[in-house]
Parts: sequence; C-alpha cells; structure tokens
Amino acid sequence: MHHSRLWLCREHFNKFIENRVMRTIKRYNLIRRGDRVLLGLSGGKDSVVLAYILSKLRETIGFKLYLTHLNLGIGEYSKKTVEIVRKISEKINAPLIILDLREILSIGIPELALKTRRPPCSVCGVVKRYLLNALAVELKADSIATGHNLDDMVTFILREFLVQNLEQIPKLAPRIEGAEDYLATKIKPLYETYEEDIKKYAELNNIDYVEEKCPLADEKTITSSLKKHLGILENKFPGLTIGFIRRFVKNLEKYPKPRDTIRRCSICGMPSSGEVCSFCKITQKALGKPMGPYAREYIREIV
Ligand code: FES
Ligand code: ZN
Repeated sequence: MHHSRLWLCREHFNKFIENRVMRTIKRYNLIRRGDRVLLGLSGGKDSVVLAYILSKLRETIGFKLYLTHLNLGIGEYSKKTVEIVRKISEKINAPLIILDLREILSIGIPELALKTRRPPCSVCGVVKRYLLNALAVELKADSIATGHNLDDMVTFILREFLVQNLEQIPKLAPRIEGAEDYLATKIKPLYETYEEDIKKYAELNNIDYVEEKCPLADEKTITSSLKKHLGILENKFPGLTIGFIRRFVKNLEKYPKPRDTIRRCSICGMPSSGEVCSFCKITQKALGKPMGPYAREYIREIV
C-alpha cells in the first residue's frame, strides 16, 4: 500500500481495510448498536465492497443491514447490475429490495433525460436520491449508507472549492443528519478508504462487480479530471489525500452553513429546497404529472 508504505499479505490486507472502515464508523459515529442501515447498491466496486465489509462488521457492531438497488432501465448495463446485486445479496445474506424505474415511471433514465432535455446524470441523481430517501423513510431506517470513497470525497470537496460553492462543502461530511420522518440520515463508511484499496479488496476476495462505466456517463467533467490529477499528486506525495480529509473534517464548522433550508414538497411531502421537489418537477415535465405521490405509494406497498 503506497499511501501507508506497507507490504501486506492477503489476510493482513483484509484486516487492515476492515479495521479502517470500522475506525471510520466509530470516529464519525456513523452506525450505532441496534441501527437499521439501508445500503444503496449500484453494482459498482465501491458499494459492493462496502456491502461485503458491512456484512462482516454487522455482528460486532450489532446492526441490521438492508440492501437496495435501483434498476435505472439503461439496457444491458442495468441488466448486468441487477445480476451482480442479486449475487452479493445472496453471498452476504442480506435482504435486497430492487426498485424498477420502468415499473414506477413507465420510462427509464435515457427517456427521462430526453424528455426533460437535461443531462442523464443530473436526472439520474435526482431520481436516485429521491427513491433512496423515500425507501429509507418507509423502512424507518436509521441511515442510508453509500459507497463514496476517499478519492471521491476529496474530489467533490476540491470541485466545490474551485467553483467557490462554499455552502455545499459541509454537505460533504461523513455523516449528514436527517430530519423528522421525511429525510433520512446519510453516512459514508468508506470515507477514509482509498479507491485503489477497494479495487484490490474486491480482487483478493473474488467479489464480482460491474466494471464498465454507465454508458450515459459524461467523461469530460471537472470531477473526472480532478480525480485523475489527484491520483498523480497522491502518487508523488503518499498519504496526502487521507491527511487532507482528516483535517477537512476538523475544520468543517469553519465553512459557511447552507442557506437553503429544507422544506417539504407541497405535492409529495418529501424534502425540497423550493415549493416543489425536483423529482415532482422532472416527472411533471416528462410525463405530464408529478409522480412523487405515486412513487411513495409504490414503495409503501413493497415495504
Ligand atoms: Fe445515472 Fe448513469 S448511472 S446516468
Ligand atoms: Zn415532490
């Protein structure tokens, strides 16, 4: 491991990574005994490895793990992701809820993007956040866990800094508290784990994941460029990234607090920064009617 200047065998490497996730959970108080944790599984290496590690820690910490996957309706790519998440759910013996976008909205992400004339990743983000939160609320989950890793988080922080979107920065903390009964708490247990190590962990433990990128993803973004350059810097100065994130968390309260207070959407009751939430707005534009209330009902029935 370049960043720690360590050479480890498979067994000790596994221990190292699992301990690191455990320490992240404790340090930032991410999961408590008795919690119900809902993990959003995309099928990519990060969320799949996180599912695997959390399943190992569940006894020691004493929490319940639920998995969920959103079938985005992106052709072969989505078929593959569904296969992978089914496999991991069986392997680690954790219940899996698959939400199928084509069943809920009658269309998938590609059509939704076309009809709203917005970039696919932006509508996809709105839909994912909405459905994941709605499911967590229905399940009465204590938190939603996501697979964001150390490299992702540092990249996001640097991007917000570059465009001087300082109010967005506190939202990049390892734990974001929810509110009442409509906004779930979000946690990132891989906050201090290098992407490279996650890849290695998957390889060494024969964990299958979807290797190809989403076919709709835009490669030419500030984020992807920044990440590449961060990799070069880390290579030159091992440990730079982890040192940065730890100091960042210590300094969190020095950043300006977000001004936009979270309200409830007047149509579906879910969190929104304006009168109507983005999910209701997008579906109104694409389908002629806001689908928030219907989606919530759909999820309620599944749960
Ligand atoms: Fe959302 Fe590709 S995964 S647009
Ligand atoms: Zn709404």
